[in-house]
Order: sequence, then structure tokens, then C-alpha cells
Amino acid sequence: MYDFQPDPDRPKAELYQDLADAARAITAGEPDWVANMANVAALIWQFVPQLNWAGFYRMVDGTLVLGPFQGKAACIRIPLGQGVCGSAAASGATQLVADVHAFPGHIACDAASASELVVPVIRDGQVIAVIDLDSPEPSRFDDEDAAGIEALAAVLASAI
Ligand code: SME
Repeated sequence: MYDFQPDPDRPKAELYQDLADAARAITAGEPDWVANMANVAALIWQFVPQLNWAGFYRMVDGTLVLGPFQGKAACIRIPLGQGVCGSAAASGATQLVADVHAFPGHIACDAASASELVVPVIRDGQVIAVIDLDSPEPSRFDDEDAAGIEALAAVLASAI
């Protein structure tokens, strides 16, 4: 059993450092990407407050396909360039969306989502997956959240 104990009162930078450390520890020596994505989706859910969805889309034959996640059942396939996830995957750049309803082409998998953060996972210059966080709070995510999830993506690049 793993018993990570996040402290939500810690400064964000420290919370994300703890999240990256936990992800590194739980994926160490484990080659199975399903297991690693599933555990890291659970860690994000446990460490990051005010989320209604957290998980992965994987790049499969040029399309994003749903991976392990926490939250409600979600859209399965997202073409590159579509929605927040498809934009992150097509550009290779983090998408920080304060109001999903103002994002052209936003794909509403859960009507509760108000803001969203999507970070690409890049290995050898290729986007291999995206990490998607949704919140019911408008403007939930800031640059510290983006930097924290980007650090997590760097840890995962060799574990998924
Ligand atoms: N909102 C995303 C779709 C995935 S769900 O949020 C889980 C998008 O626009 O790409």
C-alpha cells in the first residue's frame, strides 16, 4: 500500500514538488504504462484540490484516445487540433483555460467543468500523451499549476 499524505495548505510549488516526487516513486521500475498512468491519475486527484476530472489522453495513430483517469466517464477520441486537449497535442504547448465556455471548440465531457489545464507529455520531441485537469471553479488554474503539471509531465515522459 502507498500512503502519500498531501498537505493542501502547503504553498503550491511545494505541493507540486511532493506530487512529482510521489509520481517518481510510484512509477520507479514499473514498465507498464497503464499501471503508471492509473496511479498518477489517482495521485493528481489526491494532491490537487477542486477538480472534477483528472487524467490522460494518449496519442494513438495521430488521434488522442482516452487513458486512465479519475472523474466521470469521458469522450473517448479527440482529433488533433480539436478542443483544449487536441490544441495542446497539436501545438505541444500547455493550454491554460480560465473559462472553458470561451474556448473555441471546447469539448464538454462533464458539464460541471468551468476551467481546464492541459499539459502535453513529450518524449524525443513527440507528444505521446496529454495530462488533462478540469475544475468546476472558473479560473482555477494559474502559472504555478501549469509549472507543477509540466514538471509532472517531465517525470512521466520516461514512465508511460
Ligand atoms: N474538455 C476537453 C475534453 C476532455 S474532458 O475535459 C475530460 C477538451 O476540450 O479537449
